[in-house]
Amino acid sequence: MRPSLVIAGLLSTNVAALKIAASLQWIEHTPLPYAITNFYNGSSTATLESGGVQNIQLDSTLDLAANAETQGLLSLASDPNIRLIYVVCDVAYRIVANKASGISTLSDLKGKKIGTIPGTSAAYFIDKFLSTVNLTSSDYRVVAGNVCMKAPCGAGTFPTMIQNGVIDAFGVWEPAVELAAEALGDNAVLFENASIYQEVYSLYTTTTKLADPDTKSDIVAYVQALNQTLDVFTNQPDTVYSYVAQSVGMDVDTLKAVWPQHKWAGIWGDDLLDFLVQEEAWVAAQNRRQPMATTDIQAFLDPSIWESL
Ligand SMILES: *[C@@H]1O[C@H](CO)[C@@H](O)[C@H](O)[C@H]1NC(C)=O
Ligand SMILES: *[C@@H]1O[C@H](CO)[C@@H](O)[C@H](O)[C@H]1NC(C)=O
Ligand SMILES: *[C@@H]1O[C@H](CO)[C@@H](O)[C@H](O)[C@H]1NC(C)=O
Ligand SMILES: *[C@@H]1O[C@H](CO)[C@@H](O)[C@H](O)[C@H]1NC(C)=O
Repeated sequence: MRPSLVIAGLLSTNVAALKIAASLQWIEHTPLPYAITNFYNGSSTATLESGGVQNIQLDSTLDLAANAETQGLLSLASDPNIRLIYVVCDVAYRIVANKASGISTLSDLKGKKIGTIPGTSAAYFIDKFLSTVNLTSSDYRVVAGNVCMKAPCGAGTFPTMIQNGVIDAFGVWEPAVELAAEALGDNAVLFENASIYQEVYSLYTTTTKLADPDTKSDIVAYVQALNQTLDVFTNQPDTVYSYVAQSVGMDVDTLKAVWPQHKWAGIWGDDLLDFLVQEEAWVAAQNRRQPMATTDIQAFLDPSIWESL
């Protein structure tokens, strides 16, 4: 009796499920379960669990993960085998400010208390956007807080903090910005410029997974399903508003208001490399390490799955 061979035999006849991880709280992730339910027809089932790109390094049974590009760069620095293979969503982040704090232009944020989530795409967005008016991080005070998906928002959330004057402005992914803008009414001032920053919410895997032909063909089938999903999200949003709102605990009206901030993307443009090289300079400085080489970031961007659809 050689138990290890018995187990190996079982594994080769029962194909393991395609395992995917993402934070299940955000609008951006909703195409992932929709694709599984409506379109995925790989050789096995697909499962979605809570997690992110950092889990790919910790759990070798995980095949795919979705996260903003910021978390992708953080993971790449400790595991050069991580690959970005698809872009689920580009999100034009916004800053909402309170007019009552004397803010009407972006430059007025000098000396103010600005809410964001340190170490995330939102913190990079604030840094990059404010640098366009020559404000550096020493020109304002960053205040951490939580997001809110639906009113009424709790005590430690940005929409409540801005209403109570704990912060003068904040910038993060939706719908917290929208909820604050609605609550502030005429006192709300919104700033955005997608050509300066938009979140690149992406799908990641590893070179190990891509080198396994069975796993790779399931990844291709899943990305195909995601691509069909993005078509629905882009062209028939009326059919998914209630699904998305329910998945992340939002009101449909709030979701409709922030829908235009989300571009259900697919493949990336030539400008992504430069964008990531710039962002990596910030991520590296935050983590007190040297920036990765441009060639490493280029290798991180792997269009092979997309090209084989
Ligand atoms: C998945 O379904 C599509 C159409 O429904 C079909 O063309 C394709 O061959 C299927 N793929 C697999 C792996 O079954
Ligand atoms: C920022 O600083 C640069 C260089 O000092 C200057 O040319 C530019 O006009 C400034 N921009 C703003 C918005 O203040
Ligand atoms: C957005 O930023 C770009 C690049 O800096 C600039 O050319 C453009 O004028 C800005 N758009 C708005 C609406 O401010
Ligand atoms: C992905 O979806 C887009 C938009 O629906 C479609 O134009 C494109 O042909 C799809 N790509 C592949 C490779 O299926």
